[in-house]
Amino acid sequence: MTARILDGKRIADELLERIKGRVAARVAAGKSRPGLAVMLVGSDPASAVYVKNKRKACKEVGFRSFDYDLPAETAQAELEALIDRLNTDQRVHGILLQLPLPPHVDATALINRIDPRKDVDGFNAANVGALVLRQRGLRPCTPKGVMTLLAHTDRPVRGQHAVVVGVSNHVGRPMALELLLAGCTTTSCHKFTRDLPGFVSQADLVVVAVGRPGLVKGEWIKPGAIVIDIGINRLDDGSLVGDVEFDAAAQRASWITPVPGGVGRMTVATLIENTLEAAETFFD
Ligand code: GUN
Repeated sequence: MTARILDGKRIADELLERIKGRVAARVAAGKSRPGLAVMLVGSDPASAVYVKNKRKACKEVGFRSFDYDLPAETAQAELEALIDRLNTDQRVHGILLQLPLPPHVDATALINRIDPRKDVDGFNAANVGALVLRQRGLRPCTPKGVMTLLAHTDRPVRGQHAVVVGVSNHVGRPMALELLLAGCTTTSCHKFTRDLPGFVSQADLVVVAVGRPGLVKGEWIKPGAIVIDIGINRLDDGSLVGDVEFDAAAQRASWITPVPGGVGRMTVATLIENTLEAAETFFD
C-alpha cells in the first residue's frame, strides 16, 4: 500500500479562505474586525519563524495584528502589565504568547494571566479544564488542527485505536484527550513506555509529537493505519523532517501527513480559527 497524503497546506489554506469570507461578512455587518496580539520575547530563531507565519496569516484573513517584539531581558512585571492591557483592549480578541520564554520568566503564571476568552492558544488551565470536561472553551491549536485533518480522511475516528506518542502539556496530552473525546480507544506512549514498537504496531491511528527525527520506524506501522507526524526537526543540512520515517511509513499507511506541509500549517490556521471563534463567541 502507498499512503495518500493528508495535505495540511491545502486544508489549512481552504480553512483560511473560509475565515477570510466570514471576517469580510462580519465587518460588512458592522461587527468588529477580529484582532490578534502576538507577543515574542527574545530572539529564538524558530519562534521568530513561527511568529512571522502567524502574523502573515492574520493579515491574509483581514484580522488586525498587534505585534509585540520584546527583548529577552523583559521583566515578568512588564509582561504581566502588557497582558493586563491586552486583556482589556476591546480591539484585541486573541492573545498569543509565543513559547518558549526566557528562563527568568514564569511562563505558567503568564499563560494563566491571559483572559481565558482571549487565550486562543488554548493553553491556560481554564481552557485545558474545559476540554477535559467538554465545556465551552478555546481548544489547543495543534490537537484541534489534527482533528480537522482527520475529518478529511475517508475514515471516521470513532472506535479506532489511537496511539499518541508524546505527552507534552500543549500537544501530546491534549491530543490524546481530543481523540478520546472523539470516541477513540487511546493509548499514550512516553519515555517510560517499555515497548514503543509493540504499541505503535497495534494502532489504527498513530500521532507522534516528540521532536526526535526518525523515532517511529516505518516497519512499526500497521498496514492501513493513519499516521500523523507533529514533529518538526531541523537537520544539520538545514532540511526539516518529522518524527516518523516518512518514506518507509508511507509504504504501509493509508494516510500520512508530510513534514513540512502537514500539521504545522494547520496549527497556524487553527489559531486564526480560534481567534474568530473568540470574537464571535465571547465579544459580539
Ligand atoms: N511554540 C511552539 N509552538 C507554539 C504554539 O503553538 N503556541 C505558542 N504560544 N508557542 C509555541
